Amino acid sequence: MSIIKMVDVDLKGKRVLIRQDLNVPVKDGKVTSETRIQASLPTIQHALKQGARVMIMSHLGRPTEGQYDAQYSLQPVADRMSELLGQPVPLQQNWLDGIEVDAGKVVLCENVRFNPGEKKNDPQLGQQMAQLCDVFVMDAFGTAHRAQASTHAVAEFAPIACAGPLLAGELEALGKALDNPEKPMLAIVGGSKVSTKLTVLESLSKIVDQLIVGGGIANTFIAAAGYPVGKSLYEPDLVTEAKRLMEAAKSQGSEIPVPTDVVCAKQFSESAVATVKKVNEVEDDDLILDIGPETSAHFSTIINAAKTIVWNGPVGVFEIEQFGHGTHELSKAIATSTGFSIAGGGDTLAAIELYGIGNKVSYMSTGGGAFLEFLEGKQLPAVAMLEQRGT
Ligand code: 3PG
Ligand code: MG
Repeated sequence: MSIIKMVDVDLKGKRVLIRQDLNVPVKDGKVTSETRIQASLPTIQHALKQGARVMIMSHLGRPTEGQYDAQYSLQPVADRMSELLGQPVPLQQNWLDGIEVDAGKVVLCENVRFNPGEKKNDPQLGQQMAQLCDVFVMDAFGTAHRAQASTHAVAEFAPIACAGPLLAGELEALGKALDNPEKPMLAIVGGSKVSTKLTVLESLSKIVDQLIVGGGIANTFIAAAGYPVGKSLYEPDLVTEAKRLMEAAKSQGSEIPVPTDVVCAKQFSESAVATVKKVNEVEDDDLILDIGPETSAHFSTIINAAKTIVWNGPVGVFEIEQFGHGTHELSKAIATSTGFSIAGGGDTLAAIELYGIGNKVSYMSTGGGAFLEFLEGKQLPAVAMLEQRGT
């Protein structure tokens, strides 16, 4: 069965509901990294040009369902998108009740994750969404690994369900890049979403020659190596699993290196004082917020030796300058590497933008978790549903 592509569907005058991944970082009501918005524009422009009535859905962050929370509103995205498109992009609340939109016009629906049932892929919610449209376009590659009402159930019930150009393009490009990667292959997996990623590491460690962990994930490995982590974000339940992964890597002749030095602070804030410590010197009231300079130098050497580099997730809290040096150093090593580099994920793209290395990365994906799962060889649930609805 083959997936229907949006570019092959007649959209003129049709009600077209597009699921994008506009989950971008926002600070003080402004979008701070707009790569995902930029990546979504060609799809929207194509639909508008065809004379479609365009409705866009996305999530932002992980709000509590059933509760409006201004912090997770898509208003900053609507503002930036109207500037980029050069036409108004009104943000609609309570859109499940119906959306009025003219041909050639676009409406952004407020955060899908405010709707009860979104996360558990509620079929009734999917049906409600499907009723809004003639054509559903799944274009959110970054959320294609989630089976949720706006990525999965809606596609089951929509009259037509197809893949948008961004999703289709990512699948093709990543498929090619990861088909026969040159060795040694290195994966750098960081970020704060610990448990969702630790499971990914298991299968990744079998595919790649080397694995560098960072962020909250690294803290679990630091604890597994027997060092104190103080008040740091980590997962005690997964320490045994982390130990097992490290031993398995060793027995295969590779390693998951544990930082030898870290950057600590007494509190998580922009004004916190950053102190470099040896990994065995972390105190009870310390928070580990970055890797130290010795560790960045070691990791940079590993990066330089790799022929294929896959990067998802910063290794420290790079949004705060004094905890961004580790991520900055690794990004410099990636930029100067002669290997093929693939980077993806909301925070990773933001770091790449911040350090200005965008043109030095071989391929940038809008997906983070999604591209790691793709790399694992897993079928992405949203893509599986499009296949089911294909021809
Ligand atoms: C991401 O940023 O990784 C995607 O937008 C998915 O978000 P989620 O991990 O909250 O589902
Ligand atoms: Mg993610």
